[in-house]
Amino acid sequence: PDAASQWLWPRVLAHRCGGALAPENTLAGLEVAAACGCGGVEFDVMLTADQQPVLIHDETLTRTTDRDGRVAALTLDAVRRADAGCRHAAAFAGERVPTFAEAAARCRELGLAANVEIKPASGHDVATGARVAADAARLWAGSVLPPLLSSFSVAALAAATQAAPTLPRALLCERLDEDWQARCEELGVIAVHADAALLERDQAAAVRAAGYRLAVYTVNDAQRAATLFDWGVDCVITDRPERVRPPRGRS
Ligand code: G3P
Ligand code: MG
Repeated sequence: PDAASQWLWPRVLAHRCGGALAPENTLAGLEVAAACGCGGVEFDVMLTADQQPVLIHDETLTRTTDRDGRVAALTLDAVRRADAGCRHAAAFAGERVPTFAEAAARCRELGLAANVEIKPASGHDVATGARVAADAARLWAGSVLPPLLSSFSVAALAAATQAAPTLPRALLCERLDEDWQARCEELGVIAVHADAALLERDQAAAVRAAGYRLAVYTVNDAQRAATLFDWGVDCVITDRPERVRPPRGRS
C-alpha cells in the first residue's frame, strides 16, 4: 500500500451517517454520530441525472423517502423535493437528501472522518467514481482529515484513482476471495472493507500482515465488535454507534 495515502482510521464509523439513530444518509445522521462520540461516518454517494452527487443508498427513492423514481433519472431539484426523514420517524420529517457538498461541509465542521462509499447506479460506475473523487478532493481541500473513498465497483475505484490520485481508497467486498490482494495491488487501495458476517479470523490476519487496513460492516453487537478488534480489525462500521465502542485503552 502507498504510505503517502493514509487515513486517520477512527475505530468506529456510524453506518449511513448516523446508523439506526437517524434517517440514513442524512445531515441529521451526522449530528447523531458526532453526539455519540463517533470518530467518523460512512455514507453512500450516487449521481443524479444532472450528474450531481447526493447521499443515497438505493437506486430509487422509494424505501427511504416519500417519493418514487430512479435517482439516475431525476434531476437534483427533483430529488431535493423528496422527504428523506419522515419514513424513519415523524420527528425527522423535512430532512432532505443531502448533496455531497453539504455532507462534506458538515463533516468538516463536526470533525468527523468521512468514509465516502461511491455507490454508482447500475451502468454509471466510471462517471460516478470520477465525479465523486474529483468533488471529494475539492471539498476537503486543505483539510488535515481527507476522506477515504470506497466502493464495491472496481471500475468506479479505477476512475476515482484517475480523478484524485492522492485520496486514500478502500476496496469493498463481501466475502474475501482468493485474489483479494492482487486486486488491491492493481487498484492501489490502502484498505479492504469486508462483510463482518463472512470474515474469518485468518483472513483478517492475512489482510493486516499484507500491510492493508481492514474495516468491517455492519457490526451492531458490542461483543462481536470487541472480538473483531481482537482479530486485528482496524475499524467497525455500525448501525449502533451508541452501543459499539472502541477497544479499551485505544481510541
Ligand atoms: O461501506 C460499508 C457498507 O455501507 C456497505 O454496504 O449496502 O450498506 O452500502 P451498504
Ligand atoms: Mg454503504
